[in-house]
Amino acid sequence: MVRCSSMPFSGYEATDLSGFAERVLGKESTLLAELRVRQRLGEQLNYPRSRRAFASSFYFVRYGFYRHNFIVGARSGPDETFWAGLVQNLVEELGGFVSPTHNALYRHFLEEAGVKCDARLRQPVFAARFNRRWENYCRKAPFVQALAGIAVYEILDQPDYALLLEVVKKAGVGPKGLQFFEVHAHARHFELFEGSMQQLWKHRQGRRALVGAARFVNDTQRMMWTGLLSHLERTCKGLPRTPNSP
Ligand SMILES: [Fe+2]
Repeated sequence: MVRCSSMPFSGYEATDLSGFAERVLGKESTLLAELRVRQRLGEQLNYPRSRRAFASSFYFVRYGFYRHNFIVGARSGPDETFWAGLVQNLVEELGGFVSPTHNALYRHFLEEAGVKCDARLRQPVFAARFNRRWENYCRKAPFVQALAGIAVYEILDQPDYALLLEVVKKAGVGPKGLQFFEVHAHARHFELFEGSMQQLWKHRQGRRALVGAARFVNDTQRMMWTGLLSHLERTCKGLPRTPNSP
């Protein structure tokens, strides 16, 4: 058992890797509550225009994430314990070769929200910032920290997508459009990285890398949620409310 209790680990103290994952998860849940994401997003999704704006802008938040896996993968060298999680993560994105790809599921959601073609979508400023920040991190952070960043981000699937599933369901999105959220609400992708993350956890430097990555991920999520909510609230300012009409 290892206890991280000195300053560099502040806020992420844990006795093992799953305790650390709980800390990351707890911080995201606190953030969701602090920003009132459930209420604000739920309110916004009552507007058809806002539903389209949400589908169109969240598209950019999640659609490019495979690229970040490739960027970190290109830095990972011959030690397969480091690239195994990335490969498995990408296979999951492809639906494990047995189900529709996650991008295909997202396109179903776009259609349900009234967006027929994803090729013409324009990336909003907050999403461009989010992607730029992630891309920089994947290219420039020390390699193990960049890898840990991807792994830690996967921890957030559970709180984020459970919440999103709840609000899109309430907004009246049909079963085909819900699939993307259902798949992610039940995903356990952090486990795909367990081998390499356990290796990191054994050493103080590795634990520091994990905590550095967690700070980056939690902080970048704050930026993303704040940007997304402001974007939607601006989009629908002054519009009459039309409850649950897709
Ligand atoms: Fe996915």
